[in-house]
Amino acid sequence: MREHIEMELLNDAFNIFRDASSKLEQQYALLERKIEDLNEELAEKNRAMERNRRLAAMGEMAARIAHEIRNPLGSMAIFATLLERELSAEPDKKKLAVHITKGVKTLDNLLSNMLLFASNPGVRLKQIDLKDAIEDALSMTIGHEKKGVRIKTSFDGSTLVMGDLAQLRQLFLNLFLNALDALDEDGTLVIRIRPSEDEPGITEVEVKDNGRGIPSEALDRIFDPFFSTKDRGTGLGLAIVSTVVSAHEGFIDVSSEEGRGTRFVISLPVAGPEKAIC
Ligand SMILES: Nc1ncnc2c1ncn2[C@@H]1O[C@H](COP(=O)(O)OP(=O)(O)OP(=O)(O)O)[C@@H](O)[C@H]1O
Ligand SMILES: [Mg+2]
Repeated sequence: MREHIEMELLNDAFNIFRDASSKLEQQYALLERKIEDLNEELAEKNRAMERNRRLAAMGEMAARIAHEIRNPLGSMAIFATLLERELSAEPDKKKLAVHITKGVKTLDNLLSNMLLFASNPGVRLKQIDLKDAIEDALSMTIGHEKKGVRIKTSFDGSTLVMGDLAQLRQLFLNLFLNALDALDEDGTLVIRIRPSEDEPGITEVEVKDNGRGIPSEALDRIFDPFFSTKDRGTGLGLAIVSTVVSAHEGFIDVSSEEGRGTRFVISLPVAGPEKAIC
């Protein structure tokens, strides 16, 4: 009898031990899986870090190359302009020099966008006149004009804002080039500066074209870097517009209708004390 009871106790103890050990085994397997997951996550994070390191290095390299290309490009622009003047009596030959100027300007714009994109510099906000940024940008569209396209500008109220002139010039150049690209002959580009009706202390710049417009499915992506619907577009133009506007603590509104045109409104804080945003 006593032997029987001892046997039962032993059996119970054995069962308890077996259950506990199977639970331990399950927990061990669970822990093993978790460790595997964590190891995978760590490997992915290391890969992402390595990718970011390479991207940063590439950005630096791109910025350095862009600087190097800039100087000879500047000389080419001057020589091409001189050549244009020399050939003013020979329109056919002059046309070739105009092509060189246009190509150089396109390259220069690409380099400026690349430099802004790769180095993402801070801005030194100073009181500047938006009219200067707009007029400079318009003068840089030479070579991209289209026959019959009218450009209307109107400036209402104070045009002074807190801004970085070089960056704002590049912002407007990208908007104007896009608008000119989208316009057909006889189209119109309207550029207006006016105080915001809704928000005191904000100046708005409206850039409106009656060109081909943006399809609604593309509208969400136009500010993404490298998004372009053009054969030879880099897709950096509007990404730069967005970066520069954020750096100025401003905002952008865009509306577009296919076949009817596109309207960008850039809102910027009016002139105040000078400050640096890095
Ligand atoms: N005013 C506009 N009218 C019609 N489409 C536009 C207009 N502005 C931008 N887009 C669309 O948004 C896309 C992105 O513009 P973005 O300026 O970033 O690049 P891109 O003009 O294609 O190339 P890049 O400016 O680098 O030469 C354009 O390819 C075009 O499809
Ligand atoms: Mg563009």
